[in-house]
Amino acid sequence: MAINFWPFMNKNKLISNEDNQINIIPNHVAIIMDGNGRWAKQRGLPRIAGHKQGMDNVKRIVEVANAYQIKVLTLYAFSTENWKRPDQEVKYLMKLPQEFLNVYLPDLIKENVKIEMIGQMDQLPPHTKEAITKAIDKTKHNTGLILNIAMNYGSRSEIVNMVKSIAEDVHMNQLDPSQIDEQLVNNYLYTSHLPDPDLLIRTSGEIRLSNFLLWQLAYTEFWFTDAYWPAFSEKEFVEALKAFQKRKRRYGGLE
Ligand code: FPP
Repeated sequence: MAINFWPFMNKNKLISNEDNQINIIPNHVAIIMDGNGRWAKQRGLPRIAGHKQGMDNVKRIVEVANAYQIKVLTLYAFSTENWKRPDQEVKYLMKLPQEFLNVYLPDLIKENVKIEMIGQMDQLPPHTKEAITKAIDKTKHNTGLILNIAMNYGSRSEIVNMVKSIAEDVHMNQLDPSQIDEQLVNNYLYTSHLPDPDLLIRTSGEIRLSNFLLWQLAYTEFWFTDAYWPAFSEKEFVEALKAFQKRKRRYGGLE
């Protein structure tokens, strides 16, 4: 009996260590921040109130990511398909980066956060472009978390642009087709300088990619939660990190 008892206790202790500690931190976490509208509706508020609350939650989750020394946090803030929403909502979503940076840029600078953006910047309204460009410039020498905002981002359009650029370079004799491989394709994407995401989180109970980082997510671990983005808490983020560290990543090989 005694022989069986002690290994059982040790095993429990081990499990409790695993449950409370995070030893394997993903380098790059990508989040599809979904459910702002439903969060607002549940409370009898207009949809834009959900986006405002979602914006404030971006700051909270950036702090957690920074504390866990995650290197890159890519957040899907506006897709190339989101232009189909009512004008008033699109206008508000285009104001959010400016509002977010007005309130939080001084803190982000102090916290050593580096702001970057992926997506088609040239199609954004001037005030949105200006706010983001200014923040990118002011944080360009920071060495902490990279907060990578996907704004007017669509993976298919990113892939189309990549194909066009490669074709142009081949046409101009700057590139030979024999040089085209996975690394070269990667070099033509918005994310060329970043590692692929290790962990993708999507909030709000939807289980789809919605045109987000289709190339880059080839070997990413996925984690879904029913929580709406404005209510996605530090506790849930830590749950996702704990789940991630239990995953066995084989990249198609064997352990
Ligand atoms: C999807 O939820 C969310 C968006 C389209 C916008 C996400 C933007 C933020 C969270 C704030 C961005 C912050 C910065 C810093 C730019 P939804 O509106 O589709 O929700 P629903 O599916 O419940 O309607």
